[in-house]
Amino acid sequence: MKLVSKYALGVAAFLGLVIAGGTYKLDAAKAASDSDWGPKWADNGNLILPVGYHEWVFVGSPLTPNALNDGKAGFPEYHNVYIQPQAYSIYKETGTFPEGTIMLKELQLTQPGENEDGSRSEVSGRGYFPAARNGIDIAVKDSKRFSESKNWGYFNFGHHAPPYKATAAAAPVANCAQCHIDNATKDMVFTKFYAILN
Ligand code: HEC
Repeated sequence: MKLVSKYALGVAAFLGLVIAGGTYKLDAAKAASDSDWGPKWADNGNLILPVGYHEWVFVGSPLTPNALNDGKAGFPEYHNVYIQPQAYSIYKETGTFPEGTIMLKELQLTQPGENEDGSRSEVSGRGYFPAARNGIDIAVKDSKRFSESKNWGYFNFGHHAPPYKATAAAAPVANCAQCHIDNATKDMVFTKFYAILN
């Protein structure tokens, strides 16, 4: 009898551990999934280049070609802008960019021009046509890290063909954030160019 009750105790203790362990695992999984879609940071505080951003929500593509900017546009490419999907669905519901929102701008060269304005002709007409990918800039909303630049941090992952840098440090406010502070349409983002964010 004694043996049996010891055994029962053992089983109960074991079950308790399993249940506690399971609960812990569940909590950890929940915490991970809560922040799963947000930015990922390296130990030194650099932003890690997000993966899968070509499946994010595409919001627009401003274009400032060299030929229209005295041959020296800062960014002569298409600026293909994406928003992280969970942030987009929260924005759609609330009209506010949530903490952890990532806006990602991938630059994309134009096909070589045939005319003085940099345009060329394709079967669809005369204009500008996308070519190779050529760089990434990112903005992250994080009020704890970037309270001094209106809650957004700015990162440059290289202005060149892929592969891009794996991580990037926040750029000085004067290099990026200041112009967004002075000119952006809504909460540091140039929403006026992105029809689905208006
Ligand atoms: C002189 C002003 C200016 C500076 C400096 C600037 N930006 Fe922007 N940024 C803009 C404008 C205007 C747009 C939207 C139109 C466009 O892309 O041409 C934009 C768009 C963006 C977007 C897309 C989301 C949004 O806010 O519209 C990101 C991401 C971005 N910039 C990151 C950066 C980073 C990173 C830097 C610094 C390396 C930087 N910007 C510096 C003016 C600026």
